[in-house]
Amino acid sequence: MKKYRLLKQFLRGNKAAYIAGIVFMIIAQLLSLVNTFIIGVVIDSVIGDILPEGIAYKGLQLLGGKEHLMHNLWICGLVLVFFSAFEGVFMFLSRKYSAIAGEGIAKNIRMDLYEHLQNSTYLYNTSIKTGDIMQRCTSDLETVRNFLATQFQDLIKCIVLIVASVSVMQKVNTDLTLAGFSLMPIIVLGAFFFFRYVSKKFLLADEAEGVMSTVIEENLSGMRIVRSCATQSREIEKFIASSLDYRNKDLKITVAFAWYWGLSDAICQLQIGVVLVTGIILAVKGEITVGMLTVFMTYVHNLIWPIRGMGRVLGDMGKASVSLGRIQEVLEAPREPGRDDTGLTPKIEGNISFENVSYEYTDGNEVLKDISFSIGKGETLAILGKTGSGKSTLLHLLVGLLPYEKGSIKVDGIELGEINKRHLRKNIGIVLQEPFLFSKTIKENISDNNPDITDADIEKATSIASVDRAIRNFEKGYDTMVGEKGVTLSGGQRQRVAIARTLIGNCKVLIFDDSLSAVDMQTDKEIRNALRKHCADTTTILISHRINTLRQADLILVMEDGRITDRGTHDELIQREGLYKQVYDMQSCVLDMAKAGE
Ligand SMILES: Nc1ncnc2c1ncn2[C@@H]1O[C@H](COP(=O)(O)OP(=O)(O)O)[C@@H](O)[C@H]1O
Ligand SMILES: [Mg+2]
Repeated sequence: MKKYRLLKQFLRGNKAAYIAGIVFMIIAQLLSLVNTFIIGVVIDSVIGDILPEGIAYKGLQLLGGKEHLMHNLWICGLVLVFFSAFEGVFMFLSRKYSAIAGEGIAKNIRMDLYEHLQNSTYLYNTSIKTGDIMQRCTSDLETVRNFLATQFQDLIKCIVLIVASVSVMQKVNTDLTLAGFSLMPIIVLGAFFFFRYVSKKFLLADEAEGVMSTVIEENLSGMRIVRSCATQSREIEKFIASSLDYRNKDLKITVAFAWYWGLSDAICQLQIGVVLVTGIILAVKGEITVGMLTVFMTYVHNLIWPIRGMGRVLGDMGKASVSLGRIQEVLEAPREPGRDDTGLTPKIEGNISFENVSYEYTDGNEVLKDISFSIGKGETLAILGKTGSGKSTLLHLLVGLLPYEKGSIKVDGIELGEINKRHLRKNIGIVLQEPFLFSKTIKENISDNNPDITDADIEKATSIASVDRAIRNFEKGYDTMVGEKGVTLSGGQRQRVAIARTLIGNCKVLIFDDSLSAVDMQTDKEIRNALRKHCADTTTILISHRINTLRQADLILVMEDGRITDRGTHDELIQREGLYKQVYDMQSCVLDMAKAGE
């Protein structure tokens, strides 16, 4: 039922074209049956001497009667050409409107998927596998489109053909009609079961191909490690194994198809043979005319292939249903609340407080436990903690990437959940732990094509982020392409471009999630000094493993296993035994050693 509603949703705006495609197709099919019937009548009643009945009689009279037509056979030819031309026109219209509807449906599915993925929750977006989603947006979409635009129409075409042909055939001769359909059930069922069987095999082969692609992809992207560990021969063995597996599975399908086409063609021809032999026997007995036997032969011939196709469509229907289900799963993923225009849009100053906040990604597994702290406008908060202690999670809660349920987070005294998300993110900028740059120029990455951002703004942001000099040293400067098509930025350069991108927003709160980890100590210091100078009113939150980065903060939190286990200023924390002091001692020791080495 849900799937049906989904299909209706995809059809929106294309219903007229879709129905037109089906109606024109039905007309074209009926015209083709008429055409064949005319040939039968011409053989029997114009060339032969059998008196026509009903509509055939009327038709003959209209064209001048048997005698006249007999001497002017070209008229019959002209009539046939006329009907064939019409059939062609309707066929064309049917194809055209089906294509319009098909493309429209595909566009709707793509739009719906894309829109939903843009607005689904951060948690969902980080949990999905890119390859899997790409497949849902391409091959699953294609399967559904193909079903709606082609296979469903084929099904209707087949039904129309069967009903119309049988109603004509059984009027002429019931015995021959039965003979004409004697093998049809075998043909339909054979196709149905075969395509059901083979679609499972296709699934296995697809999986094997996926495994093989992954081996290649991992090998190529991890080539440096493979080379440096000299594990090429093991990689080759792995590849051969996956390639062989894929070949075997694919071969099974090809052989199965060879059997199927061979056998089913033979049965189809046998069906035509049955009609021919029965027809000849009946014609000899005088129970059927030669003209009508020709009509029968042509009808059966025209029916047999669509009927075989119908079995295939029915067998493939499961595949379309699975694909639709996979698309449906994406469309049912939770949407991020508050993306619309709801919520408050207060002027944000940058006072932040957490009160008894706990968070769990999965039930019963709290990764943040009872977090409480507060910082005022323009202050700096620093967080130190081992990997996995919950630092990033805490920050993601603050920018509304994750929803919090337990406790209270307030920005300038207003509950975070009540603030409009877009507004919140315009005011609270975050540099993520693993920043992503798009395959665009550096300038576009920083300004995001916002026309309000001037070159001077960009230069100021990059200068605070200490990356302006590096950018100017590139041949194309700010117009340098980033990523596969352009230069490969070093980890530190990437981080600094990402910092500039966040700085350009002039946010009231700035969050750096370990954003200086790949930057050397000296540059780290320069950036912090520049930030203090240019963003004095900005509330800053820093995560870092470097005591030097953290030490000037107004408040430092030490996090262990989801809890705040200590807090204070640098001077307070080094007085106490604990993680902070341990890290401090270790880093001073390394520094001392480095100094001694100089
Ligand atoms: N998307 C997620 N789904 C489930 N668990 C997660 C997810 N992200 C992080 N975690 C878990 O939450 C804990 C805290 O992670 P995180 O906040 O990233 O720590 P940190 O930033 O301090 O290294 C870790 O145990 C991590 O495995
Ligand atoms: Mg982290």
